[in-house]
Amino acid sequence: MKAAVLREVGKPLQIEQVQINKPGPHEVLIRTAAAGLCHSDLHFMQGSYPHPLPAVLGHESAGIVEQVGSEVRTVKPGDHVITCLSAFCGHCEFCLTGHMSLCVSPDTKRGKDEEPRLSTESGPRLSTESGPMLQYLNLSSFAEQMLIHEHACVAIRPHMPLDRAALIGCSVTTGVGAAIHTSNVRPGEMVAVIGCGGVGLSAINRAAIAGASRIFAIDTVASKGNLAMEFGATDFINAAEVDAVKEVIEATKGGVHHAFEAIGLGKTSEQAFNMLRRGGTANIIGMIPVGQMVSVMGAAFLGEKKLQGSLMGSNRFPVDMPRFVDFYMSGKLKLDQMISQRIKLEQVNEGFEDMKRGELARSVIVFDA
Ligand SMILES: NC(=O)c1ccc[n+]([C@@H]2O[C@H](COP(=O)([O-])OP(=O)(O)OC[C@H]3O[C@@H](n4cnc5c(N)ncnc54)[C@H](O)[C@@H]3O)[C@@H](O)[C@H]2O)c1
Ligand SMILES: [Zn+2]
Ligand SMILES: [Zn+2]
Repeated sequence: MKAAVLREVGKPLQIEQVQINKPGPHEVLIRTAAAGLCHSDLHFMQGSYPHPLPAVLGHESAGIVEQVGSEVRTVKPGDHVITCLSAFCGHCEFCLTGHMSLCVSPDTKRGKDEEPRLSTESGPRLSTESGPMLQYLNLSSFAEQMLIHEHACVAIRPHMPLDRAALIGCSVTTGVGAAIHTSNVRPGEMVAVIGCGGVGLSAINRAAIAGASRIFAIDTVASKGNLAMEFGATDFINAAEVDAVKEVIEATKGGVHHAFEAIGLGKTSEQAFNMLRRGGTANIIGMIPVGQMVSVMGAAFLGEKKLQGSLMGSNRFPVDMPRFVDFYMSGKLKLDQMISQRIKLEQVNEGFEDMKRGELARSVIVFDA
């Protein structure tokens, strides 16, 4: 199959021929229909987060099940599925206490060397004629097919368009989940979202569904203002021109109940905390480069302000994703507006160049049927 491979940090992805294995007992082989470009892929390409290489990138996808292993019970050939990197084991402390997106059990994941963890599995999932090829975040979606654990996908209504379903695979689950699960936005509360890419726009969308009274969208690209309003923002602040913290504090007479950082910078994470009202919660979604610190005023904790991380929207994805599909089908989730362009696998590097300019919501790779 054709796949987009990262061989060296700082270099473009290469389109290569990659071999994919047959499903082991708990594995599913999927024909990829669509894969979104997420800023997290770019972090790995730029080296702000390390990953063993070479690897096939991509982790925001949907497709159709082609083949399943002998023990698979949750999906069957022909099912339309959304994938999720939050592969869960179902029996560790995190899974059993309802925090399955924090599961780190190796049972559902391959080792960094792509060696199977369980004796029942059947060799590396991916390979090339010239040597090993590693899977990335349990998925590797920038490829015509994916071989994944059955606990890394969920079946959805067949009428859901798969290019929009792909978005639910990461950005929507991350942004929407941050606003429901990590921080529970209630009707009438005030919200600020810093960074209006796919993740931030999803947090805005969900805050609007929840009935937030004011939703401040903050970005340094002016054209993100109109887009954020379409997703439900009530106010746009151009952080390239004004001090976003000061603006939010003044407009809300003291700060917001919930702030979401969806960029991945120490500085904007500090801003998220500094624009909270007493008792408010700052949620850091962005991937802050390894080694970068975040510092806040210690005395602010006396106002019961909270600073917390949010991983993949604190999801329970097999339950959440079909619900998000329903939200889209009933017109509440704005996924049509989220797709700025549809591209081919061969255009993946151009898509990441577009991402760097910050003007697009999402680029989605659509594979030929
Ligand atoms: N925690 C998780 O589970 C998780 C999951 C998915 C993505 N992420 C991370 O979330 C972040 C956002 O991802 P995305 O795909 O939406 O990114 P994106 O590149 O599409 O959007 C980022 C937005 O931030 C804006 N921006 C950049 N610098 C800014 C600044 N200083 N002030 C205000 N706005 C600024 C850009 O203009 C752009 O609109 C990334 O760091 C990504 O890795 C985290
Ligand atoms: Zn992502
Ligand atoms: Zn687990």
